[in-house]
Amino acid sequence: MSHSAETPLHMIDIIRKKRDGGALTAKEIGFVAQGAATGAVPTDQLAAWLMAVWLNGLNLEETRALTLAMRDSGEKFSPRRLGKTAVDKHSSGGVGDKTSFLVAPLAAACGVAVPMISGRALGHTGGTLDKLESIPGYRTALSLSEFETVLMNCGCSIVSQTPALVPADRVLYALRDRTGTVENASLICASILSKKLAAGLDALVLDVKTGSGAFLSSYEECEFLAALMVATAEAAGTRTVALLTDMNQPLGQAAGNWIELAEAVELLRGNRPPAIEDLRELSLILAGWMIHLGGKAGSAHAGYQFAEAALTDGAALAAFIKMVDLQGGDVSVFDDPAAFHKPGATRVVEAWESGVITSMDTTALGWAVQRTGAGREKAGEPVDPHAGIVFHARRGAKVQAGEPIATIYATNEAMLDEPEAILRQAIHLSKESSSEVTKLVSRIITCDEAEKYLGDH
Ligand code: URA
Repeated sequence: MSHSAETPLHMIDIIRKKRDGGALTAKEIGFVAQGAATGAVPTDQLAAWLMAVWLNGLNLEETRALTLAMRDSGEKFSPRRLGKTAVDKHSSGGVGDKTSFLVAPLAAACGVAVPMISGRALGHTGGTLDKLESIPGYRTALSLSEFETVLMNCGCSIVSQTPALVPADRVLYALRDRTGTVENASLICASILSKKLAAGLDALVLDVKTGSGAFLSSYEECEFLAALMVATAEAAGTRTVALLTDMNQPLGQAAGNWIELAEAVELLRGNRPPAIEDLRELSLILAGWMIHLGGKAGSAHAGYQFAEAALTDGAALAAFIKMVDLQGGDVSVFDDPAAFHKPGATRVVEAWESGVITSMDTTALGWAVQRTGAGREKAGEPVDPHAGIVFHARRGAKVQAGEPIATIYATNEAMLDEPEAILRQAIHLSKESSSEVTKLVSRIITCDEAEKYLGDH
């Protein structure tokens, strides 16, 4: 059915059109986004629409329209009064990906403002907000004026979508998580960019995960997602660059809630454990780009060096602690992170044979982490702040039978078996072979490259 300007829209028509492979107009897409934000479209119809989109896709125009409609579904933040360039980073979702806790204070310490609107656990990946809420008292749902106050005082603030701020993403994000509709480039693009554009950013750095733990399975799909997001954000007026990064194993050692924060703070304290060098390196690279795009360094490399100085002299740690304090969090938990960690049940998993860890199914490992209690089964459920898994061995490591390869922290004894069973399937040990070496950052996509990529594909 086609609509004139005056014809009222009906959600059932929009669902059927997308189900049958049609292209939606900007008006129809705006109707869905507004309906999600206000509750005017019921959840069952939104779920059916998401599945129709997942199956039939959105074209470039539809993706742009959805991104802008979701951005405009609520209030927007203006960083102008901060008097600084506003820059952020967002990842397409990973396992053990805690770089936000490092890059936000690193960039803030180097003179840019970081108004970061983040998400909760999604599919097999952890959520920045769930991790932050493991700090007693930390508030993620701030009003715009509270957001501004925190940013004025410490340069960075990590908050959630709210019924006022990107409400369409708040609803669709949680619904995608429980309807199997996460892994779609257009939905990921609109979800990420609606939040980033609503924050009024001048510049954005995207960390697009690739490999066995990424939402999109082939490298080409990840390149497409990166190009799609860069072109869409640039068209909306935000200078953007995407880095394609490795997610063939968890980033750092810890994946869960509190244990991820504790690991990030270990680095913010200036310590440099070799086992989490990948996390340190990627955080500095991303922060370097943020500082460069924010106009505080002539190149991403110079930005990296500024960020490294802020890591070693404690400036980033100070910004992080101040942010937690200003958002109501009890900063005393960082005095002794190990003492604060009180999991319900703990199990050490030992290598079942001697050999080399050749590969990991990181998506399965992410599900194992969620099943410890670190993730949720139903929307709105609380997550266990102390649940998660610490991985003691990385790809390429030679392990002896009986050597610990992971420690599982679960809510209770009954929740230890499933993660262990997944883990045993997902970590591949081999007698002969060595593992394929993958680069931490395999490609950088700028605006020109994004346009060219989309033109060619
Ligand atoms: N991060 C988001 O905010 N949304 C997605 O869909 C994926 C990652």
